[in-house]
Amino acid sequence: MRNKRNAAIAGVVSLVVMTICLWLIVRNIGDPAMPLNTLAPAGTQNWEIFNLVKPVFLIAGLVFLAVEAGVIWMAVRFKRNKDDVDGVDEPTQTHGNTTLEIGWTLVPALVLAILAVFNVKTVLEIEKSENPIEVRVIGQQWWWEYRYDTNNDGTVDIITATQVVVPVGRDVKMKLQSNDVIHSFWIPAINGKLDAVPGRTHTLIMTADKPGIYQGQCTEYCGLSHGVMRMELKALPQAEYDKWVDAMTSVPDQPTDPKAIAGQELFVSQCARCHQVDGLTPESSPPFKYSKLPDPEYGQTVDSTLTSKNAPNLTHLMMRQTFAGSLLPLYQGKAAESVTAVPDGVPDRSNLKDWLRDPESVKPMNPENNQGMPNLQLSETQIDQLVAYLVTLK
Ligand code: CUA
Repeated sequence: MRNKRNAAIAGVVSLVVMTICLWLIVRNIGDPAMPLNTLAPAGTQNWEIFNLVKPVFLIAGLVFLAVEAGVIWMAVRFKRNKDDVDGVDEPTQTHGNTTLEIGWTLVPALVLAILAVFNVKTVLEIEKSENPIEVRVIGQQWWWEYRYDTNNDGTVDIITATQVVVPVGRDVKMKLQSNDVIHSFWIPAINGKLDAVPGRTHTLIMTADKPGIYQGQCTEYCGLSHGVMRMELKALPQAEYDKWVDAMTSVPDQPTDPKAIAGQELFVSQCARCHQVDGLTPESSPPFKYSKLPDPEYGQTVDSTLTSKNAPNLTHLMMRQTFAGSLLPLYQGKAAESVTAVPDGVPDRSNLKDWLRDPESVKPMNPENNQGMPNLQLSETQIDQLVAYLVTLK
């Protein structure tokens, strides 16, 4: 009697837990506070995946129900009654049933074979592209770098970080590479995930079908700040994208405010060894222009005496909307999410200051081992000047 009651309680509890889980999943679809949801497609490839997920879940659900029904039926039908006598009221003992064994081997094999047809079809479909833009995506500890060759002449003309910008409706061929360890590139609204492996190039096609900022997260354990190694894909209408390319392929205006000029000098002495800024100063020497060199494969022609290659290119820092591996917004309020070529809003100076004051309090890093931003022990005046300069980089 007690066993029956316990079984009933266990059944009800698991039903409640499963219902809550399902409710949480459905409720969070499209919730901007929970952006890593593969069930809210905004890209051609994820629509393909989503359309495969539905029949697969349906079939898996039917199998689950059939198996559960069988288990419950057998438990009730063959349960031991309290007046059963051991050794007398035993069920007939059998060994082996060829028909059943062949059946439960063939039926799942058949189900999997049918699913495989649609699976392979989807895999082939999401690898297709037509007249794509190529973007080299380079995993770094712990942020993402993006390199564009916008005029297809074999030279890189845009190097940016954290936020990859693409035109809506155009196929983008992401060529994933890594500068250190294995990372994994994943922006669930657009496509599935793919590893970025040192020494290899993996290709992922991404086609955003509506303007927006879609968030992602590194999904291969890559050290201290793996958990906050985020990325964003900003999909712009073609005209806005063209504006973005124009802005990104020109150098930022020289600062005019005295505080920003002081910040620029400080940048040259403190930051420029690791961080690239094109056209840093008119007289800057050596000329900071590695991004204009031919660069058929990552690392080949980059002059390592200019920068460390381990730090984000800051030429157009304020053209993106987040920094520090997409952990912190660069703008206050709505400007942090606005889908325009050139973000227009009030910079969030306090985030930049917190970062410059003590980077490791923002995210865990290991600068002694060339992993992440060191603490430069800057004074508050210096931090003020640097931020005044950084917010001019548009
Ligand atoms: Cu990069 Cu985890």
